[in-house]
Amino acid sequence: MSASGNRQQALANQVSESVEFLRSKTSSRPAIGIVLGSGLGGFGDLLIEKTTVDTKTIPHYPRSSVPGHAGKIHFGKIPQSGIPYSGIADGKKKSAELLVFQGRVHFYETNDLAQVVYPIDVAAALGIKKLIVTNAGGAINRQFAPGDLMFITDYLNMTFKNPLRGRNPKGASWNKTLRPAFSRAMLAKAKDAARENGIPYKEGVYCWTKGPAYESAAEIQMIDKLGADAVGMSTVPEVIVAAEYGIEVLGISCITNLATGLSSEKLSHAEVTVVANRVKQNFTTLVSKIVFAIGEDV
Ligand code: HPA
Repeated sequence: MSASGNRQQALANQVSESVEFLRSKTSSRPAIGIVLGSGLGGFGDLLIEKTTVDTKTIPHYPRSSVPGHAGKIHFGKIPQSGIPYSGIADGKKKSAELLVFQGRVHFYETNDLAQVVYPIDVAAALGIKKLIVTNAGGAINRQFAPGDLMFITDYLNMTFKNPLRGRNPKGASWNKTLRPAFSRAMLAKAKDAARENGIPYKEGVYCWTKGPAYESAAEIQMIDKLGADAVGMSTVPEVIVAAEYGIEVLGISCITNLATGLSSEKLSHAEVTVVANRVKQNFTTLVSKIVFAIGEDV
């Protein structure tokens, strides 16, 4: 077998051990996955009929070292009667079963994209068909303010790294067809859900930068000229791999700050977490409503 074939086989074996472990913990078989970004982990705490697995206990699962990234996987549902602080109540609608990743590993933590996308390999093997990927991001678009929620329409990849390089998730020929990484259908449903519930939203292009330092002011000017509306250090690798698996993806950025140079304040991870906390309510309501909307299709 070729070196890449060997790597692929090793990955497949690891993923199936992780999946076997997770399956031994729950009989839930979710088709919708959610990746919770920096400071947005609280969503996981609200689930009912929940099985929580500490990712440290999962064989081969990567470790996150960033504060605010708990490292838990939850299987569970959104309570039908409403989520405590958002006051939603969906009457007759039942929540689909969910697979929720609380905490992620960033590229800057390990310099290893295989670890960053490992949760997506696991999600695909668990049968996830639709994925909501969320993150904290800095605003580049001058119309955006901290606290805004932005649906991601497309991405820019300023790392120029592709997690698919060196492997082939399908074990067949590469899928070189250009297709939108983000699902138009899910985006349309998400926008409907936001409008119907009076939750304001923005839309835009998310740019992935390597980190761990925030961008320089000149970099932000460059990224602005290239057409991005928000910037952050995650999401894109996961989305690339999910799309390759044929998973439908919706992306949501929680705008936590103005990008470097757009405000006189100095950026800090603490600030990012504080704002993410503040928008928790809108975020939770929005994601819940989207789950109720897309849950009817899976
Ligand atoms: N830049 C990069 N990543 C981020 C930012 C930012 O301004 N805000 C939150 N995550």
